[in-house]
Amino acid sequence: MPATVFFAAGPANWEEYRNPLNAAFTAAGLDIVMSDRTDDPASVDYIVFAPGGVIEDFGPYVNCKAVLNLWAGVERLVTNPTLTQPLARMVDWGLTEGMEEYVVGHVLRHHLGMDAHIHGQDGVWRNSVLPPLARERPVAMLGLGELGQASARALTALNFPVMGWSRSPKAIDGIECRSGEDGLAHVLSRAEIAVLLLPLTENTRDLMNADRLALMPEGAVIINPGRGPLIDDTALLAALDEDRIGHATLDVFRTEPLPPDHPFWAHPRVTVTPHIAADTRPSSSSQVIAENIRRGEAGEPFLHLVDRSRGY
Ligand SMILES: NC(=O)c1ccc[n+]([C@@H]2O[C@H](COP(=O)([O-])OP(=O)(O)OC[C@H]3O[C@@H](n4cnc5c(N)ncnc54)[C@H](OP(=O)(O)O)[C@@H]3O)[C@@H](O)[C@H]2O)c1
Repeated sequence: MPATVFFAAGPANWEEYRNPLNAAFTAAGLDIVMSDRTDDPASVDYIVFAPGGVIEDFGPYVNCKAVLNLWAGVERLVTNPTLTQPLARMVDWGLTEGMEEYVVGHVLRHHLGMDAHIHGQDGVWRNSVLPPLARERPVAMLGLGELGQASARALTALNFPVMGWSRSPKAIDGIECRSGEDGLAHVLSRAEIAVLLLPLTENTRDLMNADRLALMPEGAVIINPGRGPLIDDTALLAALDEDRIGHATLDVFRTEPLPPDHPFWAHPRVTVTPHIAADTRPSSSSQVIAENIRRGEAGEPFLHLVDRSRGY
């Protein structure tokens, strides 16, 4: 009997994902019936989900073996009391490579001071200021998960000294790893550039508040492709206005799309990117979904399960 997959990630995603998912199911040798609607929730074996999709109440899906999220962040799902089924988040090589490229690109922009040359085409030959080498520019990577570790490795390959911070202690070749409140103070007080790749949980909300921003060296740069509420916006704007933080490149916000009148848009030392740091790619992520369904059907453990007690 075929397994039943309910694609509950909305009509736009259905158009994008339908063919790659069916191709991945076939390649994995799976017998699947997939639809973007169901009249019989009890018959559903797997739900492919994205927040803002077509269901909020997972209660009726009593036989569902797993909810497979299309995105990496799960903060809106882990707090849904109706979700009792195993929840897998997205870990996908396309997403990871995209994030590495975003982080490296924006770190290099600030490291090399590219803006001065891009915006300073005024006929004046200013060749006096040489940037330090990457090996002289300490970078903090807050979050050493799938995306943080990959991005940290890409930066170390360019010789940046990377200090990483995570919830649990880690040992990673070439990265100075720290954890705990002392570890955070250690990395922030030394980092000229800090990259935020943490999930949003009750422990990480407002992590970058006025006190923690004040730990950073004068002129430090913040790059946030993690989640908007990791930063206290008011504290960040104050630190920018007082020249303590040199620049903030922000991809994620408390309200998305970022409202047109939000002060971040007009601030000369804030760069807004519209949550484009890394997108889930249908071709590669469909293989991840298919592999998890194959595991479910074979009675093997699912990949990338979310630990709801930790919130990520
Ligand atoms: N902007 C975009 O386009 C985009 C795209 C994809 C994802 N994201 C965001 O990126 C986030 C990270 O993704 P990921 O796949 O790398 O997640 P992940 O693999 O779950 O890694 C999360 C990392 O954060 C650390 N962490 C969690 N809570 C912490 C705490 N209270 N204190 C210190 N460290 C803590 C974890 O520590 P342990 O290692 O000890 O568990 C882990 O190292 C996602 O949650 C999502 O919000 C953004």
